[in-house]
Amino acid sequence: MPDKEKKQGTNISRRNFLKGVGTGTVAATVAPSVLISGEKAADAQMDAAVERATVTLHINGAPYVVEVEARTTLLTVLRDGIDTTGNTIDLTGAKLICDRGECGGCTVMIDGNPVYACMMLAMDAQDKQITTVEGLADGDDLHPVQEAFIQHDALMCGFCTPGFVVSSAALLNENAKPTLEEIKVGLSGNTCRCGTYPFIFDAVKTASRKM
Ligand code: FES
Ligand code: FES
Repeated sequence: MPDKEKKQGTNISRRNFLKGVGTGTVAATVAPSVLISGEKAADAQMDAAVERATVTLHINGAPYVVEVEARTTLLTVLRDGIDTTGNTIDLTGAKLICDRGECGGCTVMIDGNPVYACMMLAMDAQDKQITTVEGLADGDDLHPVQEAFIQHDALMCGFCTPGFVVSSAALLNENAKPTLEEIKVGLSGNTCRCGTYPFIFDAVKTASRKM
């Protein structure tokens, strides 16, 4: 093929290509850089939209300064939080099970009342006394509820146990001598899939006699 023809051919081919392709193909040709800058802009917008704050949480009698997003739950901070000095909080007694306020595995006490930590925002826990299952014992001395759970073998897999222990302790703080019915109502926010309820109720009765 002569050079001129080859050149024309090339030109025609390029023109045809540019005429022939749809806008979608053109978009696909230029998309990577456009998309990347678009993603960066979206990320920047998201970052700007995420509200962050430094809060002090009083957990088991100690202050923890943490930076949290508005959407961060108290449970996330307890289990996975890192304070502003770089120390992990690492209070993993409260369990992440349903993550929707149904099982009670994440129960902690807020100012003495049982609360699902998965349903509470960390920001809302400021200026409150947070007690986790780790905070119930006094050094090596277990809380009477913890002792009674051991005595009555009130657990099988143990996954629900920290939540039940905290709810039981909160119940006994409120009502030192609950009836069986009151115990059942007081612990109705906690679920045990292993079905250890009779042993748990016995443990709470025993603890109530000790406290
Ligand atoms: S994990 Fe919070 S209620 Fe189930
Ligand atoms: S002991 Fe297994 S879920 Fe309660």
